Amino acid sequence: MNMVAKASSVYDMILTRPIAGTAPSFSGKVKISQLYWGNPSQISALKSPFDYIIATDVVYIENIVEPFLSTLNALSGPSTIIFLGYQIRSPEAHELFWRLCPELFYVKKVPHENLHPDYAFEEADVFILKKKGYS
Ligand SMILES: C[S@@+](CC[C@H](N)C(=O)[O-])C[C@H]1O[C@@H](n2cnc3c(N)ncnc32)[C@H](O)[C@@H]1O
Repeated sequence: MNMVAKASSVYDMILTRPIAGTAPSFSGKVKISQLYWGNPSQISALKSPFDYIIATDVVYIENIVEPFLSTLNALSGPSTIIFLGYQIRSPEAHELFWRLCPELFYVKKVPHENLHPDYAFEEADVFILKKKGYS
């Protein structure tokens, strides 16, 4: 599948105001590729690290937590900003995710007042993750 989109519009849809350290500096087009979490050949075919990674509603079953986190880790670098749209779907997946995620990433919750009102919901949060291991 080929699809292009304005990357800046994705950022505008998530946040009404920039969060410190995440101001968008991108322009151009988005290329779409298939990625099965934990698939080494698909991961290595991508040109990581990425500037931005956006994932929503992906922590919903326990056995995908580790492949998802290891894939995020493989695709990110010191400058990567990961936006994670999050809603509790499974207590077990939730517990495992929040036990393992802080081992790999710094986590910051976006205040609800910074979320775009058309896309913000009481029961859902957006987190910003940044990879650990860099000073
Ligand atoms: C609850 S859905 C939410 C998807 C997205 N937020 C949306 O609105 O379409 C969870 C998504 O995780 C994807 N997923 C689950 N395991 C995956 C894996 N191992 N690799 C890639 N994607 C996976 C599923 O295909 C599904 O699209």
